[in-house]
Amino acid sequence: MKVTVVGAGNVGATCADVLAYREVANEVVLLDIKEGVAEGKSLDIWQKAPINLYDTRTLGSTNDYTKTAGSDVVVITSGLPRKPGMSRDDLISTNAKIVNSVTENVVKHSPDAIIIIVSNPLDVMTYAAHIKSGLPRTKVIGMAGILDTARYRAFLAEALDVSPKDIQAVLMGGHGDTMVPLPRYTTVGGIPVTELIDADKLEAIVQRTKTGGGELVKLMGTSAWYAPGSAAAQMVEAIVKDQRRVFPVCVKLEGEYGIDDAYLGVPVILGKNGIEKVIELQLNDSEKELLETSRGHVKAVMEVLNKL
Ligand code: NAI
Ligand code: 2OP
Repeated sequence: MKVTVVGAGNVGATCADVLAYREVANEVVLLDIKEGVAEGKSLDIWQKAPINLYDTRTLGSTNDYTKTAGSDVVVITSGLPRKPGMSRDDLISTNAKIVNSVTENVVKHSPDAIIIIVSNPLDVMTYAAHIKSGLPRTKVIGMAGILDTARYRAFLAEALDVSPKDIQAVLMGGHGDTMVPLPRYTTVGGIPVTELIDADKLEAIVQRTKTGGGELVKLMGTSAWYAPGSAAAQMVEAIVKDQRRVFPVCVKLEGEYGIDDAYLGVPVILGKNGIEKVIELQLNDSEKELLETSRGHVKAVMEVLNKL
């Protein structure tokens, strides 16, 4: 198996590192536009192999897509991250140009690859890449739901003083402040979370999750990378190992949840063909309303892209 990660910045390099040490693929190619950076980081990851004991080969490339040829999965992380005071949507014009040109090159050299988008604004960059690639919607998938759900799970684990391993949850909608955590579908070792935590504490965790990305931007002056890079790698692993994991990911909806005009996070089964199935949960009225608000927000940013 061959996996390419485009963008050797914070998220891309972390993703490549996780892919290597977990031996998700035999070969991981890291590509960046900045001269030497991808080569240097992939060499560094390779030199860590004797310490961390893995044999995945990592190869760097400065914008030479022939080295990515025949990839099974490509992760696109290239693009600007946000700075304090910016929303993800502020990145649209710069990142749309980058994602479009990268997608074109990726498809040219790896026409059968499944593409995972990470660049922000996530839902709209998934839209851009899907259109540019000409691939079926099942093969152009946005990463955000695993990250947002992980933040929610981590906050819950801390509040309940339990292992994060035992928190199961799902979060839907766009990757922004209108995302939709679903306490009704959250369990702790099989126990509904609502039986273990007060409603006001749970609501505070939901709110913190919604602004979880911004919390880190304020602290670090740029956006997060450890959890995002690991989340993208987890999607790659589900695909290359045909694990059929159930994850929230961003995909073009075609009638599911009564929506056919937006790219939104929904739970899916992820396997060797990319999205094997979109899972439709039975949402109650207030959950439907939150999802509709999120759809409206993503749709408005999609319109901005259409006008660029
Ligand atoms: P970064 O600035 O550390 O890395 C971005 C890299 O992309 C840079 O090395 C840059 O040289 C490269 N790049 C720019 N144009 C390129 C091109 N045309 N071809 C190849 N490489 C190119 O940024 P970071 O922190 O890695 O974030 C990357 C993107 O991921 C941002 O848009 C950020 O907002 C987004 N992000 C999305 C998350 C999600 O949940 N979907 C989570 C975290 C970040
Ligand atoms: C995050 O949520 C910025 O989308 C990025 O960390």
